[in-house]
Amino acid sequence: MLGALQLGVLAACVVLFVPMGMAGWHLSRNKMLFFSGALFITLAVGVHLTPYFSSISNLVSSFSSVVVLENRESCISLLHKIVFDVETLSNASDSEGSWTWAAASPVAACEFQKLGLADASDLLNGSWVVVAGDSQARLVVVSLLGLVLGKEEMGSVRGDLFKRHSDYQIVVDEIGMKLDFVWAPYVSNLTSLMMDFKVNNNYPDVLVMGAGLWHVLHVTNSLDYGISLRLLRQSVVSLLPVSPELGTGGPVTRSPHLFWLGMPELINSMLNTEEKREKMKDDVLNAYDRELHGSKLLRQSGGPLLLLDTRSLSQKCGEQCTMDGMHYGGVVYEAAVHVMLNALLIESHQRL
Ligand SMILES: *[C@@H]1O[C@H](CO)[C@@H](O)[C@H](O)[C@H]1NC(C)=O
Ligand SMILES: *[C@@H]1O[C@H](CO)[C@@H](O)[C@H](O)[C@H]1NC(C)=O
Ligand SMILES: *[C@@H]1O[C@H](CO)[C@@H](O)[C@H](O)[C@H]1NC(C)=O
Repeated sequence: MLGALQLGVLAACVVLFVPMGMAGWHLSRNKMLFFSGALFITLAVGVHLTPYFSSISNLVSSFSSVVVLENRESCISLLHKIVFDVETLSNASDSEGSWTWAAASPVAACEFQKLGLADASDLLNGSWVVVAGDSQARLVVVSLLGLVLGKEEMGSVRGDLFKRHSDYQIVVDEIGMKLDFVWAPYVSNLTSLMMDFKVNNNYPDVLVMGAGLWHVLHVTNSLDYGISLRLLRQSVVSLLPVSPELGTGGPVTRSPHLFWLGMPELINSMLNTEEKREKMKDDVLNAYDRELHGSKLLRQSGGPLLLLDTRSLSQKCGEQCTMDGMHYGGVVYEAAVHVMLNALLIESHQRL
């Protein structure tokens, strides 16, 4: 809109002042009117032809892409405006239709979509996805694979994936997607992973990481957690080909899309051991969250990773969505996966 307005003003100035300038060179008034008319027609035709001339249309589209970019950033901040349908949840065994994005206007305008097999395949075609972390990350892998594999295939995958504390790899031939799950219960394990990428000079297209629960339970020291997060941030920034600013046209290297999988809400009374109930209290979890935000690992505090906010999603889903107060039903991780896919959708339009 801005571009069109400015072009209009520019055109008006040309129509007005060019003939006046010529009149200064002793043109008669009739000639001046003639030139003025001719210019007007030329410009009018020109304006309608601009889409076919790249230089001007580039100018116009760079204005409009600024607007689009702003929209994208604000849409990214709205990705977690998800509501769970309690009634459907309590009835249905599978989670179809049990969550959706809020219908309120700013969210609706972003046109987030639940991706089906075809769209997800399109989006992930030919890419290497790495999900690294603890059991929460494993549940995200289950949801992601559930989206791109059939039910039968999923059955056989489940067994392998849930061998405790082990890595897992699958290549989904139909869409040429390679997916790695890396067992990494501590943030230091994630930092080692960054080193491995660097050593092998091979980087995934999509990287989802998250660790914290093990640290809460076995170390129970939020400051120490914060230190490990800062180290991770450093290694992400220095070892991965991260573009400094999104959407500024920047460097030519293809940088991975980076996500942080947050810790879920813990429902203390439902935790299944005395030790967990003792150590994994709300105020401890809050202190860990503060360290996460203070570490500047996340995009919202100027860092490289976009938060997949499992805590807010699991909070909204509530007690009914968990058996042990820590691991939630598929619906929560499915929502998290769709948050991620929609972020990818937004960013790949922006960057490719
Ligand atoms: C849930 O189940 C109850 C009883 O079977 C039924 O009356 C109700 O309509 C169901 N709700 C939904 C949303 O399916
Ligand atoms: C994936 O991309 C390749 C070409 O890059 C194409 O031939 C193939 O049909 C695509 N598959 C899907 C499922 O989109
Ligand atoms: C993760 O890190 C911990 C502590 O640094 C270490 O003891 C453990 O061996 C690591 N695990 C893996 C799978 O790398």
